[in-house]
Amino acid sequence: MADIFEKVIRNMGPLGAHIKEAHGYFTFPKLEGDIGPTMVFNGKEKLNWSLNNYLGLANHPEVRKADADAAAQYGLAYPMGARMMSGNSNPHEQLERELAAFVGKEDAILLNYGYQGVLSIIDAMVDRHDVIVYDAESHACIVDGVRLHQGHRFQFKHNDMESCEKQLQRATRLVEKSGGGIFVITEGVFGMSGNQGNLKGIVALKDKYNFRLFIDDAHGFGTMGKTGSGAAEEQGVIDQVDLHFSTFAKSMASIGAFVAGPKEILNYLRYNLRSQIYAKSLPMPLVVGALKRLDMIRTQPEHKENLWKIVNALQSGLKESGFNIGTTSTPVTPVILNGTVAESTHLTFDLRENYDIFCSIVVYPVIPKGLIILRLIPTAAHTLADVERTIKAFKEIKQNLESGKYKHETLVNAAL
Ligand SMILES: Cc1ncc(COP(=O)(O)O)c(C=O)c1O
Repeated sequence: MADIFEKVIRNMGPLGAHIKEAHGYFTFPKLEGDIGPTMVFNGKEKLNWSLNNYLGLANHPEVRKADADAAAQYGLAYPMGARMMSGNSNPHEQLERELAAFVGKEDAILLNYGYQGVLSIIDAMVDRHDVIVYDAESHACIVDGVRLHQGHRFQFKHNDMESCEKQLQRATRLVEKSGGGIFVITEGVFGMSGNQGNLKGIVALKDKYNFRLFIDDAHGFGTMGKTGSGAAEEQGVIDQVDLHFSTFAKSMASIGAFVAGPKEILNYLRYNLRSQIYAKSLPMPLVVGALKRLDMIRTQPEHKENLWKIVNALQSGLKESGFNIGTTSTPVTPVILNGTVAESTHLTFDLRENYDIFCSIVVYPVIPKGLIILRLIPTAAHTLADVERTIKAFKEIKQNLESGKYKHETLVNAAL
């Protein structure tokens, strides 16, 4: 018999295994000061490319004022209780109506957190007779929601419509026997690669197969499409997406999320979404703050225009300098390099300490061995000078990497 505590201490998990070397620097770093392109890390200012503050709203004076006024007026307690019992309010319902209209749907429901919301939506929508078909590179919230499912679940190769169709064929054979339905799940924008989900391709399969499509558009909301409503708008398939999810954690620079769709389905979710029925409602300052942000997204297109000015300069500059940025068609900008995990730590250290540039770094086991991805998230608040400085620094660290400079194990350890 094992002791549970001893077991977890013996195996801290794939990320926890690196606590000793990583904690406080590579993991759980503290970015201090006003949120924006320049923040303080380890006591020194860094150019920061690691926040999903796409539209630069996090520290916008209008947003800060709306948040502060709402906090002063309502505090964090109101409304008390779950929405269904005692935690409903007019602003909650107003925000739902406005979000639904913005993404072109009849109705919407607020969710306290996106991760839990997606889990709960999947749980509520399918039972053991149904089959889930989902993209292989889906975010953890989808993967974990799928894990809750008691029926069959089939993964299709990322954005591969042949693979998707094959899984739909398997699913169709099963539901014809079980009497269930098929729920297809993908993302509007994949947050690591910057690829858009192939919504157009999936929607085209509706001519041959009977299924409902649920998309997680966390990174598309505010950044994609003419009005900024997301990847479905960008690809011209708003009406064919059946359920549309996004979080407030990216373009809205806040906390909370929503799901939108047809009124009857949203009413079903209102009364069956366990993450909302059994949890306290979103605090009023977050709701009032979200109304303000949504209004700014709708009426101040300059934020999205500034974002794309930076995205285009960064991505074309990197490509012209010979960097591999994969197949992104969105603001998410992965810079793909070849190197070991040890080299990646030395490279990141060099970038942070000697070039004063802070960005996220992705290595094995999240991506295949031998690859290093530096993930840049441009925002409307960055400048073209930030872009220029970053590309210059990246060229130098790439040269260092290729010349073998980061192979020396002692570089970081001696400095930390
Ligand atoms: C694609 C995607 N879905 C869902 C979430 C979870 O949203 P939240 O932070 O609101 O829990 C995230 C990250 O925030 C995400 O990137």
